[in-house]
Amino acid sequence: MGIDYLPLARDKGEEIVRLWNKELGKEFPLRKELFYQNSLEDKNVLLEGSWIALEKEKLVGFIISKIWKEDLECVKNKKDTGYIQVILVDSDYRNKGIGSELLRKAEEALKANGVKTVVLGQDPWHYFPGIPSEYIDTVEWFKKKGYVEFGEEYDLYCRLNGEGQVTLPVFPEVEFKILDKWQKNSFLEFLNRCFPGRWEYEAIKYFEKGGEGREFVVAEKKGKIIGFCRINDSKSPFIAQNVYWAPLFEEELGGIGPLGIDPEERGKGYGLAIVQAGMYFLNQRGIRNIVIDWTNLVDFYGKLGCKVWKRYIKYEKQF
Ligand SMILES: CC(C)(COP(=O)(O)OP(=O)(O)OC[C@H]1O[C@@H](n2cnc3c(N)ncnc32)[C@H](O)[C@@H]1OP(=O)(O)O)[C@@H](O)C(=O)NCCC(=O)NCCS
Repeated sequence: MGIDYLPLARDKGEEIVRLWNKELGKEFPLRKELFYQNSLEDKNVLLEGSWIALEKEKLVGFIISKIWKEDLECVKNKKDTGYIQVILVDSDYRNKGIGSELLRKAEEALKANGVKTVVLGQDPWHYFPGIPSEYIDTVEWFKKKGYVEFGEEYDLYCRLNGEGQVTLPVFPEVEFKILDKWQKNSFLEFLNRCFPGRWEYEAIKYFEKGGEGREFVVAEKKGKIIGFCRINDSKSPFIAQNVYWAPLFEEELGGIGPLGIDPEERGKGYGLAIVQAGMYFLNQRGIRNIVIDWTNLVDFYGKLGCKVWKRYIKYEKQF
């Protein structure tokens, strides 16, 4: 069997999405728009490490790898981490060495770009925070390739029973409200001070892509932002991570997270309250299904009725 390995190319986009949905679509139905957003149009893709495998003209596998290419201060310290965003081989073509060759090519390119640690998933504009736990064969395969487990993450799900069930939390000293677009700078300053790194990066990108504030709940004390919670629905300026798999639901899906409270203000009930505020605002927008993605705070969110929905196992490899 002759297999050709070619660089990832935009004109293969639709075929890649078709292969993804054939293999993973039951659990992770991929919309074309999401593949373009997170793979073909993300500047962090490492092209030398992203390949497709073809038998004659037919697509039988692909791999996409990434490194942080943004010049932003908030992601500068991530330069020696690389990512395999996704690798997939058509199930009719497995155990023929195709996956090994795709991974070899990706790892070689990551190494050549100064990467010291490769993480599976967790890339900027990721699909998965680790290997979905139901893909046991994939887990075993990566273990054989030298990848080592470093924990688990979860997506949680919560069903709201109609408007009015969730109320806006009331604290005498703190107000929970939707971010006003004029507060953009003070909001970004808050993130830079309390949550520098990926969440700050995602907020900067949110405004660059035309976001105007309706996707952020903020907690304010004496006019100062002390907490935030991102909320998403189908009107968000890009497909946000907690609504990636919205096609699994008949009704609209909303998403909550990331979120955080100023370290100096924790332990006062504001963390749980801002999640509740997020649920309240989504519910006001007619949403009953809510996903909270990529978290290990199962007990914390459990207090608001959220249950584990998907589980991911985290793997990395040091070069
Ligand atoms: C997680 C976070 C938002 C909690 O904020 P907080 O204001 O300290 O939390 P609250 O005071 O509202 O806590 C309410 C309840 O949750 C519990 N709780 C708080 N943090 C928890 C944690 N990390 N794990 C489990 N339970 C937690 C509290 O014990 C309290 O329980 P009780 O009602 O039985 O007393 C805050 O610690 C934070 O900003 N962390 C960093 C960012 C982060 O991890 N965000 C979540 C990403 S998924």
